[in-house]
Amino acid sequence: MIRNIALQSPTGAAREQALVIPVYKGTRKLSSGAARMDRAFGGVGAVFFSEGFGAERGETRMASIKRGRRLVHTVLVGLGDRANATAEELADAAGAAAKLLLQHRVESAAIYLDDLLAGASLDAGDATHAVVKAFCLACHQLKPRPSARLTRLTLRTTRSARELSPAIQRARVLAEWMVRVRDWVNLPANELGPASFTGDAKRALVKDGVTCRVLTRKQIEAEGMNGVLAVGVGSREEPRFLVAEHALAKKNWPLVCLVGKGVTFDSGGISIKPWEKMNEMKSDMAGAASVIAATAMAAQLELPVRVVAITPCVENMPDGNAFRPGDVIKLKSGKTVEVLSTDAEGRLILADAVAYAREHYQPSIIVDMATLTGGVLIALGTRVAGIMGNSARDLDDMRAAGERSGEPVWPLPLDERFVAMIKGEVSDYKNYGGRNASVITAAALIGTSAEKTPWVHIDIAGTSWNDGSGYSYQSRGGTGYGVDLLLRFLEIVASRA
Ligand code: BES
Ligand code: ZN
Ligand code: MN
Repeated sequence: MIRNIALQSPTGAAREQALVIPVYKGTRKLSSGAARMDRAFGGVGAVFFSEGFGAERGETRMASIKRGRRLVHTVLVGLGDRANATAEELADAAGAAAKLLLQHRVESAAIYLDDLLAGASLDAGDATHAVVKAFCLACHQLKPRPSARLTRLTLRTTRSARELSPAIQRARVLAEWMVRVRDWVNLPANELGPASFTGDAKRALVKDGVTCRVLTRKQIEAEGMNGVLAVGVGSREEPRFLVAEHALAKKNWPLVCLVGKGVTFDSGGISIKPWEKMNEMKSDMAGAASVIAATAMAAQLELPVRVVAITPCVENMPDGNAFRPGDVIKLKSGKTVEVLSTDAEGRLILADAVAYAREHYQPSIIVDMATLTGGVLIALGTRVAGIMGNSARDLDDMRAAGERSGEPVWPLPLDERFVAMIKGEVSDYKNYGGRNASVITAAALIGTSAEKTPWVHIDIAGTSWNDGSGYSYQSRGGTGYGVDLLLRFLEIVASRA
């Protein structure tokens, strides 16, 4: 983990073990500022241009020289096209440079920022944020190796601390929370069940000044959340339901309920999944982890918006007591659902949680985040999450938040056509609408609880887990996706007139 991040002038002494020079595509030689830094570190960076360094995004070159007894490294990293550089792309490029430094066991590095900031089409704070976030996250590894340690990063720029410090601070805190989300997601289900997950989360939240309570099975029953109960009943681990509040007393601030799917293991239940990759279903609580992290950060950053995190946490297991296909469940909303597949469990617990949000908080907006469908992985892959909902303005703002955070989202249509596909024969609804449009019909069931309350659903089944096709700064397994997205969204809501 990077402990020390400092802003420094590009002309300051070259004390670090490595210099990173980010370069946009089409650059033929180092800028005068970059060349000056390069010379201070031994002047080996300039040679790469004659070797055909093309500065494609994430392309790296490294040279090392001895200075006295020390080895000093210079890394050039390509940023790709200058014209449309996004937060997502800058982070991916910065992560590639960080990974290279880690391979070479570099402990302190300088990164020259002036060219990157001058060329970027985005705000200097946002660009700096993307770089710092990627550097911090790249240091997180699935199996921490004691030798791989980057602890000091100096950002070399002529820009002022006033301009960049808030972004640096935000990125550091964000990376810490994203690492915590990754760790939760990566923990096996025998070490993280509903009780231990919510217990852990509560301790972390309370530390950040968030009011938090965890409902037990009895209280879930008293609330009429039969969807949560049904999904959890086959497990030895009893369900839990976490509710965490930030700034609830500020009555004139907008109120956002963040609902997160917290299935600590999804075996499919009686509709059991095939064994292949079933181990990855320990990650089915990624949505809950991300909304908890976003709420904690909203408190830490003192965002002027009320936030309530609501996470139903259960383990979905086959058992003599488990719920079954054919069962009809009366949800908290009062609507009845026939279970066609016990593997379509997320929508049941989320429909209850959304109903809870409306009844107890009358929020201005509900956002739910969930590893809901395999279909979203087929449709959008591992880098883009699917969004659906009933509020065009909030969907637009979520897309803007995706751009700014480098965690992109893309909308799918959700209207009466898709609700029609889950109309029930023996009940109001059924929990599976067939293979067609399965991403949307899954969301549609959650939407039956949202009714007229503005609501955005984010399906992160593809983006929450890195199978190897992820970004340079992601380790395998949990990605921490969604925390920055939600935080940017909360910032947008807070800034609305
Ligand atoms: N947790 C899964 C979705 C999932 C799949 C997350 C792959 C991450 C990676 C969800 O509960 C599920 O089982 N969805 C099924 C529903 C189907 C059986 C109706 C799906 O999408 O295949
Ligand atoms: Zn699931
Ligand atoms: Mn499932």
